[in-house]
Amino acid sequence: MSVDSVVHKPPFPKNYADEFLVLDHGKGTEIWDTAGKRYLDFTGGIAVNSLGHGRKDLAQIARKQMEKLTHVSNLYTTEPALELAAKLVKTGNPGQFAAVHFGNSGTEANEAALKYARVYALRTKGEGHHKFLSFTGAFHGRTLGSLSLTFTEKYQKPYAPLIPGCEVAPYNDVKALARLDRTYAAVLIEPLQGEGGLDKISPAFAKALQDTCAKHDILIIADEIQGGYGRTGTFFAWQQLGLTPDIVTLAKPMAGGLPLSATLIPAKVNNQVHVGDHGTTFGGGPVTTAVANRVYDIITDPKFLDTVIKRGKSFDRLLKGLKKDFPFADQVKGMGLLKGLRLKHDPAQKALMGEVISACLDKGLLVLRAGSDILRFAPPLTVSKKELEEAVAILRTVLEEKAKAFGV
Ligand SMILES: Cc1ncc(COP(=O)(O)O)c(C=O)c1O
Repeated sequence: MSVDSVVHKPPFPKNYADEFLVLDHGKGTEIWDTAGKRYLDFTGGIAVNSLGHGRKDLAQIARKQMEKLTHVSNLYTTEPALELAAKLVKTGNPGQFAAVHFGNSGTEANEAALKYARVYALRTKGEGHHKFLSFTGAFHGRTLGSLSLTFTEKYQKPYAPLIPGCEVAPYNDVKALARLDRTYAAVLIEPLQGEGGLDKISPAFAKALQDTCAKHDILIIADEIQGGYGRTGTFFAWQQLGLTPDIVTLAKPMAGGLPLSATLIPAKVNNQVHVGDHGTTFGGGPVTTAVANRVYDIITDPKFLDTVIKRGKSFDRLLKGLKKDFPFADQVKGMGLLKGLRLKHDPAQKALMGEVISACLDKGLLVLRAGSDILRFAPPLTVSKKELEEAVAILRTVLEEKAKAFGV
């Protein structure tokens, strides 16, 4: 990094980078560091800041609620939590969801889903029906349950043994579903993968998964933590992909940057759950849910979602323009405003991705990476067409430089 406001070796554990850019304030898609340098934030706090930075409307709601009541635990509830729960159980198809468990992070939402699935399997099918299946390229979180279904060697290996009964199958491989039988409690899947590389389920795979799971009474858990909540132009990504899951997990953008997650469950699962089976101290507190009510209302406005689709299309066109001019930028991936640009390169040119990301940062554009060779973009859903153009212009300059330097 060649910017001024960089801190070296902060007292954070070594699982993080040893230098950090220190960010100070933001407005919409723009963000400034402590030295006053401006960036376009196409990371969106890893798909969290869907409504952009510096939202006075959300800040006011949080402040008002903090002054009124900040925390009550799950021994009691509050009006904002009740209001949000009522909204969330009405999402999806009529009658699809009966209850929502609130948590604080994506991984917690998945933990809750896995626990509910095991409770359901135990109490309807009996012992020995506890297995889980997930897919290559998936990222479901860092706690031990979610990690047991995130089959990336470098994430899993130091923590063995992980929880028993977890298996992996190739994403989008219909034949691999033949292994499923009644001994599986659930399948956990990202209908649109985030970290893994922006792949989405094919219609044939969605149908095979639906039919096979229905046949063996296996619950389908859709992890919509990164791809859901309006990011693709519909509230859930699965609504465009021919899948109807039983359980849905949500988190990142729910509370405008505050920590909140949700696990939506159907009546048949809720009917098997007993008092004390699961719980949380902070999940669904009045401050996060008060903000989340406003975020939900904004995102579910059909005009807002239409604009996401429109911006997604503009972004697609702009990225495809790069693809035309740089043969190594060979594939545009993703849906709506969760997009990827694959930079095909020789494994010997390992440094290319890192150099592109850091050159973008130097030129005022924050971007993410997915898998080994994909640049990932998750800008606020409020991004303007002009900002999309500015970001792609920066990217173009960077690709020109790096194409020369790497001979690609
Ligand atoms: C699809 C998906 N699931 C789960 C998680 C875990 O969420 P968290 O980091 O909030 O625990 C992430 C985080 O990137 C994610 O992208």
